[in-house]
Amino acid sequence: MMGQGYSKSMEPDPSPPSTSDSSARQPSSRPDSVTIDSISRMARNREPICMLTCYDYLTARVLDAAGVDVLLVGDSVATTLMGFSTTRGISMEMMIAFTAAVARGTGRAMVMGDMPFGSYDSSEEGITNARRLMDAGATVIKCETLPSQLPTIAAMVHAGIPVCAHLGLLPQQVQTPAGYRVHGRTAEDADAIVRMARDCRAAGAAMILLETVLPDVGRRVVEAVDCPVIGCGAGRFCHGHVVVITDLLGFNSKPPKFVPVAADIPSALAAAAREYCMAVKNRAYPDNCHEYH
Ligand code: KIV
Repeated sequence: MMGQGYSKSMEPDPSPPSTSDSSARQPSSRPDSVTIDSISRMARNREPICMLTCYDYLTARVLDAAGVDVLLVGDSVATTLMGFSTTRGISMEMMIAFTAAVARGTGRAMVMGDMPFGSYDSSEEGITNARRLMDAGATVIKCETLPSQLPTIAAMVHAGIPVCAHLGLLPQQVQTPAGYRVHGRTAEDADAIVRMARDCRAAGAAMILLETVLPDVGRRVVEAVDCPVIGCGAGRFCHGHVVVITDLLGFNSKPPKFVPVAADIPSALAAAAREYCMAVKNRAYPDNCHEYH
């Protein structure tokens, strides 16, 4: 049985979405664009900030229209879309291409770029590479931040780059003893995260992203810094929350506990592909209505 989609006309859409719409490439040119100022205001007013990862133009258009405030072009693209075993697999050039694609599909949302592993080993490299992501359309640049990298964060801020410091679980470090685990379980670990958040803010970070920490650590960080704190599995006290889009959409068979899985897109995709295959194999597709006359 053919689905409705196969009996629809395949004539070109008379009004396809424009790819040359300049507002899609320059989010800051729109009056309703989300900016660091508006995100900071939302945090101050305790208005929840909604953030999702996004890696492509098509999805960016949908998420932007759905009202997502911040699109994070995370280096999680390495594992989610590119098939690498860790996020260390992604290059600066790839991150620039993904960031540019998302920025082209974004009108209102703020685009957050992400510095891949090894792209900010020195302050000079950090400044150069962050600027490349900003040239691609990112407004703010996320850096997984170790204590030794605080001077780099300060140098990037000094160079005019809005930085989001990523603390707690650092996926680029999962091959080290830090590993994949909930952070902040001991008093010492929790204190170190809160201290790092304060130090990052003192270095000029505009935002903090806290990944996989106990809710109490999230609460303490929110109290310790005067900037937006976005949680990724960091509990209810954060100003905003982010999850990986492919986890949200059901692509991860073992999603982290904190992900509110909202759809089963792989099943919908498989069903559509099966239906199409069957139609081709049965010679039901293409039929008269799919042919140009
Ligand atoms: O790269 C990424 O997607 C991230 C999120 C997990 C926060 O850093």
